[in-house]
Amino acid sequence: MQLNDGERAILDGERGEGARKAMELVVALARVYGAENLVDITSAHLSGASYKTIGDGGLLYLEDMAAGGAKVAVRSTLNPIGMDRERWPEMHIAGDFAEKQLRIVELYGMMGIETTCSCTPYLGANVPGVGEHIAWAESSALSMANSFFGARTNREGGPGALAAAIIGKTANYGYHLDENRKPTVVVEADIGDTLFEHSLLGQAVGSRIGAGVPYFKGIKPGVEEAKSLAAAMAASGAVAMWHAEGVTPEAAGCDLTGLETIKIGPAELKEAEESLNTADDVELIALGCPHLSVREMGEIAKLLKGKKKRKDVEVWFCTSEAVRAACPKEVEVMEGFGPVLADTCMVVAPIEGTFSRTATNSCKAGNYLPTLCSQKVVCGDMSDLLRAIQ
Ligand code: F3S
Repeated sequence: MQLNDGERAILDGERGEGARKAMELVVALARVYGAENLVDITSAHLSGASYKTIGDGGLLYLEDMAAGGAKVAVRSTLNPIGMDRERWPEMHIAGDFAEKQLRIVELYGMMGIETTCSCTPYLGANVPGVGEHIAWAESSALSMANSFFGARTNREGGPGALAAAIIGKTANYGYHLDENRKPTVVVEADIGDTLFEHSLLGQAVGSRIGAGVPYFKGIKPGVEEAKSLAAAMAASGAVAMWHAEGVTPEAAGCDLTGLETIKIGPAELKEAEESLNTADDVELIALGCPHLSVREMGEIAKLLKGKKKRKDVEVWFCTSEAVRAACPKEVEVMEGFGPVLADTCMVVAPIEGTFSRTATNSCKAGNYLPTLCSQKVVCGDMSDLLRAIQ
């Protein structure tokens, strides 16, 4: 593996202890994955932000990195944390959890990371450009970056993305290289245009192809449909890169000769939906996985305007602080049903202490709620879930 003089100097501690440790980790990862060199990145997006997922070990690691003077070298944004920074009491969060969670955010801030705390940085906070090398964690966001935006990133883990952000470089392998971005299977999709159907499509495809690179025909996803699709494929499989004919920037150059074709239609969507449903009634309806966009906030407010919540079910709407601030009228309507929470989500918040049955319109959440939050799940279309409690 080749390192240039500047990279070797960082490894020798010239930029301080934090940067030295970061370079050590990036070089170790590069060796593991057989990278020949490092590549400069233009941005990073970091996961490992919730105290629930990183625990005291992760907190100590961040204390150590910040104390070593580590500072990010490129624009870096942060994934959702375990609670809304102000409204955490409404989420039944304990005070000691909140204290540690706020310290984690503070430490990321000290290292120069924008504490946006959202899994949809591409909606405004951190928008990657075509062909840019980046180091993003968060499986749905990095899949969007690779595919919908045409940037180049591997499935970085939390510490790897932080280390890459600090030195401004990552290991040059995997989806940074042209040969690994080519489609491996064609998917002919026969689905409707709702977000939930795109999520189910992702569930069906991810569970069939694992870590392949699908080339979609028959869909024309906008950013909301694409994020539902990408999130589900990353959770039911390990898809980090995909193409959609006439939509994604690299689709036009794809050679489909000799590729297997799979067909996904109503029967496969039904099977995907049934595979995720394990509850009949719920205590919490949680929407916003990935975080709600302005358009989705508008659609929800339209569904709820003039209606009353008549069932004793908690409702959470999860979005970014920026989107919440941009939608005051929608927020007012939605708050009649439940809190519009920023910075957090139903999976990285410690909901398992409070709820045992949760409804979602996201197949990504449908995969993770049982395993990471001990929930039984209802996975259904957003409008059906909201109508059932009016
Ligand atoms: Fe985002 Fe949480 Fe879903 S991080 S993609 S809302 S599991």
